[in-house]
Amino acid sequence: MSFEIIGTGRGEPDFRLTNAILEKMVDTSDEWITQRTGISERRVMVDETMRDLALKSAREALEDGGITPDQLGYILFATISGEYRTPSQASILAMDLGVDCAALDLNAACTGFLYGLDMADALFQANKAEYILVVGMEIMSRYLDYTDRRTCILFGDGGGAVLLKKGNGLKAIHASGKGNIDVLNIPNVFPDTPWHKETETRNTIEMNGREVYKFAVGAFLDELNLCLNRAGMTAQDLDLVIPHQANSRIIESARERLGVSEETFINQVADRGNTSAGSIPLLLDELNRSGKLKKGMMLGLVAFGGGLTSAGAILEWTKE
Ligand code: ACO
Repeated sequence: MSFEIIGTGRGEPDFRLTNAILEKMVDTSDEWITQRTGISERRVMVDETMRDLALKSAREALEDGGITPDQLGYILFATISGEYRTPSQASILAMDLGVDCAALDLNAACTGFLYGLDMADALFQANKAEYILVVGMEIMSRYLDYTDRRTCILFGDGGGAVLLKKGNGLKAIHASGKGNIDVLNIPNVFPDTPWHKETETRNTIEMNGREVYKFAVGAFLDELNLCLNRAGMTAQDLDLVIPHQANSRIIESARERLGVSEETFINQVADRGNTSAGSIPLLLDELNRSGKLKKGMMLGLVAFGGGLTSAGAILEWTKE
């Protein structure tokens, strides 16, 4: 016995950073961005905080699932852009919810939310909790150099939460990694101490887009096929594939190779850009609240990102 999703919520900032605005900031064009990435706009936290949006998402998920915060066994918060080194964003959320449960952050970049589900699976199997809240949320805009056209056009802010309960919804899950610093990194910049003179000055994202692209398409298919195999299914058995939203071309390339229809694949990169660990929980909430997820549907979830990390899952939607 593992888990099923019984509630969802999301938190998105209001400000829409459009391609037209970016055209005025760096040497780029709406045409280039749309053709190479599929992105038209992304949300950026201006007046909002991650703390407020995480609390909103969590409250919505708890209400949707019909439980009170004190029933939570764990809060797992996937983020690479938390507001403090310590306390964790999960601890801040636990405090804001008024609960004393175990709470920790997970750093697996864009794969973080699925790593969270993988950890939750293990916790349920070990009988450590009845309910677990898994959050994925980012403020990627704080780690972007808005003079670097290669990266500043890609990312957006926001995320969501899912409430998990012991159950049989999860059919397969797999997480893996392939350590690599060169292809994608955000360094820490530490203060000088009597023993250390800091030489690093950059704390913004640096990425070799082409290398990430190659890794992403391969990892996407490997993770999904591995999970399908473990669940005794084929891609044609999936009602919906909800992939991490990094780039339309990555999603489209994987879809074509799997040989499934466009309707089966959720591709909403256009509206939000890449929200890293936030992208899949955001979509799960949007699909849940718009009534597109029907009981008995088989969902394929897949993500890839910094680390390098990747993960996949097959999940039956059991909620009415
Ligand atoms: N506007 C105009 N031109 C641009 C821009 C821009 N915003 N960005 C780059 N270019 C130029 C480059 O300078 C280059 O010019 P040159 O040929 O004169 O040198 C040209 O466009 C081609 O650049 P490439 O980097 O080769 O472009 P590519 O087709 O690979 O697209 C992109 C770049 C969109 C980044 C693509 O490689 C990609 O999507 N990669 C995957 C990135 C990704 O998914 N990252 C997410 C992981 S995130 C995480 O875990 C945090």
